[in-house]
Amino acid sequence: MSAPSSSPPEPALEPRGLAAPHGGVADQIVIDAQDLRMIYPPPKAGGKGTVAVDGVGFQVWRGEIFGFLGPNGAGKTTTISILTTLLDPTSGRARIEGIDVLAHPNDVRRKIGLVFQKSTADEELTGRENMLIEAGLYGLTSGQIGGHVNDLLAQMDLATSADRFVKTYSGGMRRRLELAVGMVHKPKLLFLDEPTLGLDPQGRAGFWRYIRYLRDSQGLTVFMTTHYLDEADQLCDRIAVIDHGKIIALGTPKQLKDSVGGDTLVLSVAAGSADPTALISPLPGVTAISRQGDSLRVKCSRGESLVPKVVMTAAQAGIEILGVTVIKPTLDEVFLHLTGHAYREEGEAPNGNPGHGAGNGPEGAPA
Ligand SMILES: Nc1ncnc2c1ncn2[C@@H]1O[C@H](COP(=O)(O)OP(=O)(O)OP(=O)(O)O)[C@@H](O)[C@H]1O
Ligand SMILES: [Mg+2]
Repeated sequence: MSAPSSSPPEPALEPRGLAAPHGGVADQIVIDAQDLRMIYPPPKAGGKGTVAVDGVGFQVWRGEIFGFLGPNGAGKTTTISILTTLLDPTSGRARIEGIDVLAHPNDVRRKIGLVFQKSTADEELTGRENMLIEAGLYGLTSGQIGGHVNDLLAQMDLATSADRFVKTYSGGMRRRLELAVGMVHKPKLLFLDEPTLGLDPQGRAGFWRYIRYLRDSQGLTVFMTTHYLDEADQLCDRIAVIDHGKIIALGTPKQLKDSVGGDTLVLSVAAGSADPTALISPLPGVTAISRQGDSLRVKCSRGESLVPKVVMTAAQAGIEILGVTVIKPTLDEVFLHLTGHAYREEGEAPNGNPGHGAGNGPEGAPA
């Protein structure tokens, strides 16, 4: 249950040149971050501090799932820590539901739920006990909240294991318990910092199914980071890409993917046929063509609609096309295009080798 704020909410700002509304409601700004900067002090006097967040600003709208993506050390956890009142920024301001995080941190905390990658559950207690202890931190007694705890446990598929010690839980069960604990005080805004790291694909899919369910059934707004770009692509209404502490792109997954030049058609041309490049390049929507042997790669805005035109144009010129494949851009390509480097290097474990910083940040900081 969200405790009423003791301070009147400040007026929310207008969206500033962001992408068109998608899953969220653009005129209801739930998170408003403005020019946030965080410089961690140097470990030794006289040393140089670490610029972790460097002028970050964005808005998150009610009911959307907002992805915050970037490589290790990009500044994701630092930003989340500022928004959730765990860390004071060096400069800039942020408001949650119109409430300033620096001026009224306790009011903000009542509004938000938080799930970190690292488990915060007490292993020596049962799942239900963990939830009731968390509820107690918000001043809620088991009498007030017991029904809600049972509902959440059932929603998270933990009803039959609720009275078992957490140390007997599987990885997926622990993640679901974290989510249930984060939701115990009925927040309308949930922060998730790499909540599925270490889960197998099935466990991850299950976890995100619950998130989507909570969003759809309870109008939850979700701010999430993940190292799995495919996951973000499927789940997020909008995504901000952060690199070296700066937001370098913001839009729907489709807008981001379109920004790298749309689809690629791979045409397989019969050996010995004439080169169709000069015929295809003037077709509407074609942005670039390259040829490798009997294969032609055509960059275009919408692959499916170009296929019949390409095949017909080639056939009219007596050129036989043996096969056509439409390749849709991925967020990995977006990332490579924007930053010049892969999101994760080959073989690198998620959150393993730092991209350009030691990473990790204050994940274990107390809520
Ligand atoms: N407590 C701290 N003291 C000093 N520097 C820190 C601290 N926490 C983070 N940093 C540095 O700030 C930068 C941003 O770190 P942050 O943890 O926010 O990145 P991240 O995007 O969450 O990375 P990851 O993907 O590894 O979790 C990094 O260079 C990191 O080394
Ligand atoms: Mg992090």
